[in-house]
Amino acid sequence: MENGKLLWITGLSGAGKTTIATEVYTLLKNLHSNIVFIDGDVIREILGNDLGHDIEDRKKNAVRISKICEFLTGQNIHVVCATMSLFKEIHNLNRENIEEYYEIFIDVPMEELIKRDSKGLYTKALKGENKNVMGIDLPYDEPKNPFMKIDNSTLEVSIHDKAVNIIEKVGLN
Ligand SMILES: Nc1ncnc2c1ncn2[C@@H]1O[C@H](COP(=O)(O)OP(=O)(O)O)[C@@H](O)[C@H]1O
Ligand SMILES: [Mg+2]
Repeated sequence: MENGKLLWITGLSGAGKTTIATEVYTLLKNLHSNIVFIDGDVIREILGNDLGHDIEDRKKNAVRISKICEFLTGQNIHVVCATMSLFKEIHNLNRENIEEYYEIFIDVPMEELIKRDSKGLYTKALKGENKNVMGIDLPYDEPKNPFMKIDNSTLEVSIHDKAVNIIEKVGLN
């Protein structure tokens, strides 16, 4: 059987993963019926919220997400997956196990994320009021050689156009 494609949409919190992935999924749903949207945080919930946000638990959640994506793409389902999971072990795991793996890095500099701070996460973390924030007190691995790097530091290119660009590059148009 043919394999589905995995569009692994990754980046720091607030970079715009969910926003861009939702647009990609919405556009693709009109073109293909064999497609599913996965958000890393939703997987946490579905599996019973048994993991926290320290490095070890984040890695466990990332492995689960990777395995679910492998399972689905193995049945010819395309997966649009929005997840932070910025660990080189996970990037390698995906590359080894998933035939049609497309790593898409949503790139926004930390200064811009702090300015945006849509979830109030970074301001608090910088004041030491919360912990386990990637890019502040937790280290992360930027994808080394992503299939695509999308600059989402501005809206000069719209979310729609960014999504269309992704769809064309992965060949699902
Ligand atoms: N290029 C952009 N410029 C400004 N705000 C953006 C941009 N892209 C997304 N956003 C906004 O930033 C917030 C966080 O986006 P979200 O997609 O939830 O990020 P993530 O899933 O990576 O944490 C949302 O309110 C979204 O509308
Ligand atoms: Mg999100």
